[in-house]
Amino acid sequence: MTEQRAASARVLAIANQKGGVGKTTTVINLATSLALDGFRVLAVDIDPQGNLTSGLGLRGRRADAGTIYEALLAEAAPERCLLATQVENLSLIPADRNLTGAEIELVSAPSREYRLRRLIDPLRGRFDCIFIDCPPSLGLLTLNALVAADAVLIPLHCEYFALEGLADLVGTMRRVRSGLNPTLDIEGVLLTMYDERTNLGQLVARDVREFFKEKVFNTVIPRNVRLGEAPSHGIPAVLYDAKSRGAAAYVALAKEMLARHAA
Ligand SMILES: Nc1ncnc2c1ncn2[C@@H]1O[C@H](COP(=O)(O)OP(=O)(O)O)[C@@H](O)[C@H]1O
Ligand SMILES: [Mg+2]
Repeated sequence: MTEQRAASARVLAIANQKGGVGKTTTVINLATSLALDGFRVLAVDIDPQGNLTSGLGLRGRRADAGTIYEALLAEAAPERCLLATQVENLSLIPADRNLTGAEIELVSAPSREYRLRRLIDPLRGRFDCIFIDCPPSLGLLTLNALVAADAVLIPLHCEYFALEGLADLVGTMRRVRSGLNPTLDIEGVLLTMYDERTNLGQLVARDVREFFKEKVFNTVIPRNVRLGEAPSHGIPAVLYDAKSRGAAAYVALAKEMLARHAA
């Protein structure tokens, strides 16, 4: 993804095996910000909870071929898996509860780690950026995302145990790099739910920057009630309350990402 339209989409997996760190919120608002900027964006929901799908106001909706479940298990035609959203330039591959069984069903399927890549690669020409919203685990679904992606964006909740468990994700990425996807990169680490009023937030942010260095985005996402409210209305926060600090932070993040790739 660059300032210009790309010939081939950049594919980003948004991953952290902890739940509630802001993965889905990041996909919704980053994808919407870029789409509003005129980029062609695809968001892919691979979490059986379907929070990305409902956060975009499309809970229970299916594309022609169904959901990500049919896309992965029945290898439905990729272009028949796309659903238009209320945001121009933003498409979705939706998920619902059916996906819960996929993790187990995939185990005995041929090319089980490559199913998502096979779905996404043929779609690269139609989009500038593709975001994959991972479930809170390091199972076969997240593995599929790491194999399909060019890079991983890791949201980190600014709390005491933020770095705990991250070794598992980094280790999984290393294994993926040594076999299934040698060029997998780290797109960046994003500090989320930052509360500047607490020392703890500042201390955690300092530790994370010491550890991941320049991989940490300068943009920090504050704890902001609008970001929490917007999903219940099925509207991205950057549209629901564009003036809120949370929305502004995600717009700034989109700008920072574009600038990094232009450099
Ligand atoms: N910066 C934020 N400030 C306040 N609430 C947030 C923020 N980011 C996310 N939330 C809320 O916290 C919960 C968890 O966020 P979510 O993006 O769903 O995390 P994940 O996808 O990692 O499980 C959701 O209810 C979401 O609306
Ligand atoms: Mg989520």
